[in-house]
Amino acid sequence: MSNYSELVQKLSSQLEIYDNQEATSLVNWLLEHHLGLRRVDMMHFLEEKDLPQKLWKDFDRLKKGEPIQYILGKAPFYGYEFLVNSSTLIPRNETEELVHLILKENKLPGLKVLDIGTGTGCIPITLALELDQAEVYGLDISEKALEVARKNAKLLHAPVTFLKCNILEELPHVEELDILVSNPPYIPEKGKAEMHRNVLDFEPGLALFVPDEDPLLFYRTIAEKGKKLLKPRSKLYFEIHEEFGTEVLSLLEEKGYSERRLLKDLNGKDRMVTARS
Ligand SMILES: C[S@@+](CC[C@H](N)C(=O)[O-])C[C@H]1O[C@@H](n2cnc3c(N)ncnc32)[C@H](O)[C@@H]1O
Repeated sequence: MSNYSELVQKLSSQLEIYDNQEATSLVNWLLEHHLGLRRVDMMHFLEEKDLPQKLWKDFDRLKKGEPIQYILGKAPFYGYEFLVNSSTLIPRNETEELVHLILKENKLPGLKVLDIGTGTGCIPITLALELDQAEVYGLDISEKALEVARKNAKLLHAPVTFLKCNILEELPHVEELDILVSNPPYIPEKGKAEMHRNVLDFEPGLALFVPDEDPLLFYRTIAEKGKKLLKPRSKLYFEIHEEFGTEVLSLLEEKGYSERRLLKDLNGKDRMVTARS
């Protein structure tokens, strides 16, 4: 018989790739998921042998570095729960900040919105649920990601239309937009060396990387196409790599956007750029 906190300690010490605090929180997350209890209600004593078989299988995946969101098949975003799988990026806190900014700055009803590179659909689905009567679209090059996004929209009862489109080669047929938003792939290939194994080995490269010689590829293409897709004086919102804020701002100036702003995330890193068409 072992005390709950002793059990957490024992399991988390086996998650060598994470620091202590993160390992403890992952083990708690896994136990809560499998035992169906909130941490505060968790029984004081547990027999290790009584833990379900599936928990041990999931624990093995965790030890191999697989992100817990893929193991459990879901991730939280802006207070909602989104399905995720290996074809979709795991939604990040920085992206919640981008969505929060859009919601803070856009209060009119009936806005028309497009999200480019939608993944799980976390951006357009949250906007459809939180904006007043918006008409919302999301697109992605990956059919597998779109499958997940459509399921999420259905589960969360969000009226979003999803389209398959390669933004680097096609112009989507969604014009007269009030808001164009994108969190496109933005990590230069050379950045792989510094990345955590659990991102590199498990998250889709298609969602993350851009060629070293052209890191602004998506921003340039979206800014150019945005001029055709957005109504005049309508809004563009980008999530960006912390090292490219100034470059993205100059690019938008060059493409004729006004009211350009660079904003930081909660960690104090340059993370969002917005402008008007
Ligand atoms: C950084 S992820 C963002 C996912 C989601 N919006 C989020 O914030 O969690 C970038 C997304 O862009 C998609 N993508 C990559 N290349 C694309 C292309 N050429 N056209 C459209 N979407 C693309 C990827 O499949 C991926 O879902």
